[in-house]
Amino acid sequence: MISCCNSLNVNSPFLLTNYSQQLKSTRHPYLHQSKLQKRNSDGTTRGMKVVAYYGLKTPPYELDALEPYMSRRTLEVHWGKHHRNYVEGLNKQLSQNDILYGHTLDELLKVTYNNGNPLPEFDNAAQVWNHDFFWESMQPGGGDMPKLGVLQQIEKDFGSFTNFREKFILASLSHFGSGWVWLVLKRQEKRLAVITTSNALSPILWDDIPIVCLDLWEHAYYLDYKNDKIEYVNVFMDHLVSWNAALGRMARAECFVNLGEPKIPVA
Ligand SMILES: [Fe+2]
Repeated sequence: MISCCNSLNVNSPFLLTNYSQQLKSTRHPYLHQSKLQKRNSDGTTRGMKVVAYYGLKTPPYELDALEPYMSRRTLEVHWGKHHRNYVEGLNKQLSQNDILYGHTLDELLKVTYNNGNPLPEFDNAAQVWNHDFFWESMQPGGGDMPKLGVLQQIEKDFGSFTNFREKFILASLSHFGSGWVWLVLKRQEKRLAVITTSNALSPILWDDIPIVCLDLWEHAYYLDYKNDKIEYVNVFMDHLVSWNAALGRMARAECFVNLGEPKIPVA
């Protein structure tokens, strides 16, 4: 049974507050763990069994809320099957032993990436993280122009919003095979940039701060757009991308990266 929730009202005037609270509140409940121990008569424990699992987060809108630009059928398959399979695959891998017990998902990504020699759990863990971020990078009634500090920062780092848009689309279309396109804040350079990553790779592995992402795997667009990736990427930019989410993420990022004059209101 596929279910959905409305935990984020993207039209709320208190969006920044709601959004940051949501991010904060999902950080730890996201990880569910328990240890079952049998106690011997002498007080020692034996046969410890570890149960650790990560939950399937629901998109912050109904499954048909992105229509006609992304269909309910696509959400049912992409979120309800592909994303779910990554979560279940990861949980199955983690149930084998307790070596990776006790990490948040962010930490698990970095640990299983293993300095570029990924452990078997990495792909599922990264795909879970990336998909969570992707669903929250879209909203009903999205697209169009970013606002306030996000727009100002884009204009500062790309010259204009039109330049950024062209760069994002060109990067998406130039990327070969499965992967992701991201607008990130580069922590060292203190500037926004467009990057792509292959397969399950995520920019948090090299400390970039993601602001927006788009799934470039064929399963993300084939049901709605067949092989027309150009249309898919343009529709994302025009009707789906959540500049509200981007504003909240930029506000949080400014806690870690000094961008100079404060331009983004923090709730
Ligand atoms: Fe996907």
